[in-house]
Amino acid sequence: MKRIVTYGLLAATGGLFAAVAIGTSALNAQDAPFGDPDSISYAETLWSEMEEARLVGDNSIKVRPFEGNEPHGTIQEVLATIATVDDHTGRLVVKRNHASDNIDAVYDDPTGNLAAITIMFEREEGYDPENRNWFWAKYLPDGTLDTNPNGMQLAGRVAKGMDAGCIACHSARGGDDLEVLTSR
Ligand code: HEC
Repeated sequence: MKRIVTYGLLAATGGLFAAVAIGTSALNAQDAPFGDPDSISYAETLWSEMEEARLVGDNSIKVRPFEGNEPHGTIQEVLATIATVDDHTGRLVVKRNHASDNIDAVYDDPTGNLAAITIMFEREEGYDPENRNWFWAKYLPDGTLDTNPNGMQLAGRVAKGMDAGCIACHSARGGDDLEVLTSR
């Protein structure tokens, strides 16, 4: 853990991103771009790293919450840092999504209103070159992975090739935020 920087709201156009549905996949689990056994175990390792670095869990570092937009929660906290998983070091962005409308209440009790934790971790070259090698995951507050309506766990290249999901929505903005993040 080298440094923790917080940063505020990126230019977000709220209502535009209202729908968060992740489509169906006909692929079998091994070939799937996300929700496969490797991605799930990678997400578990990453969770432990984040817990140790106090980015998640009961002892989480406090950061200043800010008002956000759907689908990421009305109040959010974002931490951008560096993490190492299996000898690979990359950028890590952790967004804590809170279901609350009171910034002070979230600051006082960072885990009480937590709805989900969404993260982007920059993996090794070749992981997903079209999408800047980001690994995406959505955890519930207890560290288990959230699932899409088909029961696929949200970890990996979510949801590569589909019309909705992390990659589709983030690149619908011209991929700008992906670039901004990699230049941090
Ligand atoms: C419907 C659109 C949409 C979907 C789907 C979506 N995001 Fe986001 N995401 C955004 C927007 C807009 C922002 C920036 C502002 C905000 O959070 O309101 C953002 C920000 C983030 C950030 C913080 C970095 C930043 O650019 O501020 C992370 C981490 C993140 N998203 C992860 C995910 C993950 C993981 C998923 C999938 C489980 C996901 N997002 C799905 C729209 C989306």
